[in-house]
Amino acid sequence: MSMKTQNFDATSGGIAAAAAVLRAGGLVGFATETVYGLGGDARDDVAVARIFAAKGRPQFNPLIVHVPDLDSARAYAHFSDQALAIARAFWPGPLTLVLPLRADAGLSPLVTAGLDSVAIRVPAHPVALALLRAFGGPLAAPSANPSGRVSPTRADHVLAGLSGRIDAVLDAGPCGVGVESTILGLVGDPVLLRPGGVPAEALEAALGMALPAGGDADGDAMKPSAPGQLASHYAPVAGVRLGVAVPRAGEVWVGFGDCAGAALSLSLTGDLVQAAANLFHILRQADDLAGAGGIAFAPVPEVGLGRAINDRLRRAAAPRP
Ligand code: TXA
Ligand code: MG
Repeated sequence: MSMKTQNFDATSGGIAAAAAVLRAGGLVGFATETVYGLGGDARDDVAVARIFAAKGRPQFNPLIVHVPDLDSARAYAHFSDQALAIARAFWPGPLTLVLPLRADAGLSPLVTAGLDSVAIRVPAHPVALALLRAFGGPLAAPSANPSGRVSPTRADHVLAGLSGRIDAVLDAGPCGVGVESTILGLVGDPVLLRPGGVPAEALEAALGMALPAGGDADGDAMKPSAPGQLASHYAPVAGVRLGVAVPRAGEVWVGFGDCAGAALSLSLTGDLVQAAANLFHILRQADDLAGAGGIAFAPVPEVGLGRAINDRLRRAAAPRP
């Protein structure tokens, strides 16, 4: 599969051109507030199959369906009163809800991997919303990177991994949040399926309950993560160590907060929002700098967005298959 990947800018003309590519069954990398997604028509089996092929995904994990508003989402999923309240509070935004699939949803079964639930979100990015409205349908969109590699937060990252394998990229500059959406399961009792851009604490406050973690929604859908067998994901080429206060000679040390002598920093001021926005770009930079010495990350606190950052870092550091 080799094609010329077109580069569209985020003007009304670029957005219209990207929507036309999608209507023709093509694939477009596009910015959301979290990471760049690789979008295809969620109703079109061939387009969705091409997403898996372009990413080289070994398994058909279910994908997130992107829609421009809550009303559109209600065509694909059943919303309980609780789900409606959460959607109204957090959409548009970096939150994905897993909900019961409507029988008349009309989505490709590849999107849901044949499950009777569906993951949906309304992204909070003006260009993503404009693209969804111009396209006029639901977009299946996993992160726009080859399977298992670092997620893209800039159009250049998308091209570095997928140029020649996708039809176009819609360049809207760097992503503001920088880690993927939080995934909240609301099929039964609420479960946190993936930490992400909405801090779990904010969901717990809105739900009025503590949220149990519900297995491993990222990478290996539906498979509970076996202890000590964390799926390698977001993997840079170099080796990665975490929680490192004193790096070894030859390691590229990535600081957080006050880390004198660090080669790179997630946030010099120890700001978790800034660290999340920088995370995947810094992973790429560290990978470019690192030789055999590998990459060492300073500790990041396990609160708020720190939970999503540490989740992604643990996957980057996990043993490779
Ligand atoms: O921020 C994001 O969420 C980005 C941007 C592009 O929107 N998208 C993203 O998609 O991270 P993806 O495909 O990399 O992650 C989707 C995750 C999968 O790992 C899958 O396990 C989970 O969502 N998922 C999808 N449908 C599900 C379902 N019915 N039940 C449980 N988990 C599901
Ligand atoms: Mg991904």
